Amino acid sequence: MARWVSGAAAAVALILQGCSDDSPTPRPPSVPAVTLRNGVQMPMLAAGTWQYNDSVAEDAVVAAFNAGFQHIDTAYDYHNQVGVGKGLKRSGKARGSFFLTSKVPGCGSQNVSAKSVEQCKTETEDKLVIDLQQLNLTYIDLVLVHFPPCPGDDGTAESPSNSSCYAPHSGCTHPQACDMIRAQWSVLTNAYKKQQIRAIGVSNYCSACLECLAGSEVFPMVNQVQLHVGMGSDPEGFRTFAEKHQIKLQAYSPFGSGGHGSEEILKAGCGMSIPWHVDMRGNLTTSIGNKYGKSAAQVALKWIVSHNVSVATKSANPAHLKANLDIFDFTLSDGDLTSLDKATFASED
Ligand SMILES: NC(=O)c1ccc[n+]([C@@H]2O[C@H](COP(=O)([O-])OP(=O)(O)OC[C@H]3O[C@@H](n4cnc5c(N)ncnc54)[C@H](OP(=O)(O)O)[C@@H]3O)[C@@H](O)[C@H]2O)c1
Ligand SMILES: *[C@@H]1O[C@H](CO)[C@@H](O)[C@H](O)[C@H]1NC(C)=O
Ligand SMILES: *[C@@H]1O[C@H](CO)[C@@H](O)[C@H](O)[C@H]1NC(C)=O
Ligand SMILES: *[C@@H]1O[C@H](CO)[C@@H](O)[C@H](O)[C@H]1NC(C)=O
Ligand SMILES: *[C@@H]1O[C@H](CO)[C@@H](O)[C@H](O)[C@H]1NC(C)=O
Ligand SMILES: *[C@@H]1O[C@H](CO)[C@@H](O)[C@H](O)[C@H]1NC(C)=O
Ligand SMILES: *[C@@H]1O[C@H](CO)[C@@H](O)[C@H](O)[C@H]1NC(C)=O
Repeated sequence: MARWVSGAAAAVALILQGCSDDSPTPRPPSVPAVTLRNGVQMPMLAAGTWQYNDSVAEDAVVAAFNAGFQHIDTAYDYHNQVGVGKGLKRSGKARGSFFLTSKVPGCGSQNVSAKSVEQCKTETEDKLVIDLQQLNLTYIDLVLVHFPPCPGDDGTAESPSNSSCYAPHSGCTHPQACDMIRAQWSVLTNAYKKQQIRAIGVSNYCSACLECLAGSEVFPMVNQVQLHVGMGSDPEGFRTFAEKHQIKLQAYSPFGSGGHGSEEILKAGCGMSIPWHVDMRGNLTTSIGNKYGKSAAQVALKWIVSHNVSVATKSANPAHLKANLDIFDFTLSDGDLTSLDKATFASED
């Protein structure tokens, strides 16, 4: 009996250790920046705002700044740019002290028509103007084209998730893909030259999409793609291509797909007090974290930045926001990096 009790107590202690990310921590060291090809400094960690409505986004921006973030990630089609703009103002931060990333919709998805190249271009111009107005900013630090052009859509599809262009299977399959890509890119290039945007890039672009822009006056500086533990460290050759062409790769959905994190990474059963119901999913990130006194989430982020990749993460929980910044005071061993590189988890979408 006593033996069982101490075994159970040890199991509970182990579970609590694996879920200890809610404990209060002092303000973490400041976040390193990556230098884009044009010299612009971009803080490596961004606080995301996907799936938040205006009021939640406003609060999330303020909470992220309070935790120590200096970089906010949003997009035209998150439909919360007004809230993000209000949060930026409410935070009282000087404009030069934070970095704001936004995205314009890709042609053929997110309500941008792909019927003609000309229409794609005009609508992109319009969306960029609205973006600046809604954010109530005179300039944006980084604007990305959100998705490559998707075939078959008439421009009414709100989400590209049903199309072959959807990450992580990023495609470039529109019959006029290169024309569409160059048209959208010219809009960003013009805004960059007018200094409405400090840096320009793309998102969910496969290497073939990027090849369409070979020889451009300004080549994309950033490619934001889905990247998390379980996908391998170089899915679709994104990282190799980026390094070769001086593109800074940026990861999104670092805790798994779908905006809510994956149990394979964050570990199921956290907070549960029933030891015999412990799910072993998430045990790789959790067991590695235990060696360094870090949570599974912190290991998942550290793995990404260890590959020199910046990352957009998201949390509505102030303790999580703080924890997500607190990843620069330890180094993952080569063995642990290799284990994380090799992990293969099924993606949820
Ligand atoms: N370019 C694109 O196409 C694209 C696509 C997807 C996302 N993004 C960007 O990337 C951002 C991040 O991706 P994402 O929204 O998919 O989500 P994510 O950051 O991978 O995961 C968010 C989930 O993780 C939880 N979480 C966060 N920190 C945690 C921690 N320390 N411990 C435990 N749980 C934690 C959050 O819950 P709590 O809120 O409870 O902490 C939330 O449920 C987006 O918001 C968006 O800005 C871009
Ligand atoms: C925004 O989302 C929050 C949380 O889901 C909800 O409580 C609130 O009512 C929403 N606000 C609006 C204006 O829809
Ligand atoms: C935009 O920001 C300015 C200050 O920079 C403020 O005076 C104005 O009210 C804001 N507009 C909106 C619509 O919030
Ligand atoms: C798409 O655009 C049309 C026309 O501007 C608008 O009426 C509709 O609400 C938009 N749909 C979405 C999902 O944004
Ligand atoms: C998209 O896929 C979902 C299931 O994943 C389905 O319910 C929906 O009808 C599809 N939408 C379109 C426009 O094909
Ligand atoms: C970790 O979880 C996986 C399933 O996700 C399982 O196959 C493996 O045996 C577990 N490892 C340990 C040490 O429990
Ligand atoms: C990351 O970048 C630094 C500085 O540019 C470099 O010294 C280091 O080798 C890079 N690490 C990886 C894993 O690419």
